[in-house]
Amino acid sequence: MKKIFFSIIAISFFIAACSKKSSTGGGAVTPPTVIDTSMYTMMPFAVGASVNINLMQNNTKYNSVVKKEYNSITAENAMKFGALHPSANTYNWTDADYLINFAQLNNKRVHGHTLIWYTSLPSWVTNFVGDSAAWENLLKTHIQTVVTHFKGKVVSWDVVNEDFEDTGVPRNSIWRQKLGNDYVARCFQYANQADPDALLFYNDYGHEYSAAKRTAIIAMLNDFKARGIPVHGIGMQFHITVGQSDANISAAINTAASTGLKVHISELDIRLNASAVQGLAYTNAMGVQQAARYKYVVKTYKAIPASQQFGITTWNVGDADSWIPGWQGAPDWPLPFDANYLRKPAYAAIIDGAK
Ligand code: XIL
Repeated sequence: MKKIFFSIIAISFFIAACSKKSSTGGGAVTPPTVIDTSMYTMMPFAVGASVNINLMQNNTKYNSVVKKEYNSITAENAMKFGALHPSANTYNWTDADYLINFAQLNNKRVHGHTLIWYTSLPSWVTNFVGDSAAWENLLKTHIQTVVTHFKGKVVSWDVVNEDFEDTGVPRNSIWRQKLGNDYVARCFQYANQADPDALLFYNDYGHEYSAAKRTAIIAMLNDFKARGIPVHGIGMQFHITVGQSDANISAAINTAASTGLKVHISELDIRLNASAVQGLAYTNAMGVQQAARYKYVVKTYKAIPASQQFGITTWNVGDADSWIPGWQGAPDWPLPFDANYLRKPAYAAIIDGAK
């Protein structure tokens, strides 16, 4: 059935191409337009999505779009602390291993997200009672057990996520309270000991709207480099709004690149309803505006040195899967695919931006 459908489409494109030719007069017949494209095959760097394991397993459309369009995947939630390590002596690998298996069967890169974060922590951690040595052991054991489990399967990790406030002040997280300011550096050392081949990233949001925050992040990473702390990349989430300016997007990408580290746009989505209007409806005009922002992000990223282009990952696949409506408390359509996994204008814009 699917085959017949595609043949009909291909034939109609062929006829369209021929008739176009004859209307412009003589010469060789232009080959039919390639209709069955795949995003990652058209991109000069890796293009990824974060994925939801339940959808991967139960929604065949979702699963096949992931397979077809992307060459990198990240677990949206399945590798977070609470998901992998629900109690002190229990690790739950099932969902994450499903993803690894999918990636191996389909030749996809897996980026790990995230070893240490101030939130998504299980209560056994937030309620943990112990001296600084016991906390250090908890941190080290988690990092090294997880990195060792996925050694050779996960090529890169967000080692620490969201460790700064928007003001540029280090976040007063439970980790910092228990372990002191330099715990971040030790997280990178522990991860590196467990898998010396893994690329280690510091991941955060807000580089595009807070110069103070990105300056603080870059200062920390430059300090790590100077001290020989094993850090290889900077992840910028890029949960951005359609109104975000060219200047801010460029400043974020170019300052990150100035570190010489690999740069990952790690959680890209572009929201259309930042003022959280209830009952707003999607229009094609909104999709076109959004596409222009996607294109600008990709074009700016494409201009940094190729050796620093780790890739661009969107935060999930289709609009109906996005975390944004829940987080924002209002409808939105932040991704390149719609709720039926049809390509929105943003899809072509991403490919265009990389040309
Ligand atoms: C979000 C997921 O998308 C949600 O499903 C979950 O409920 C909360 O976390 N920054 C991050 C991601 O680094 O891990 C977050 O993901 C989105 C913001």
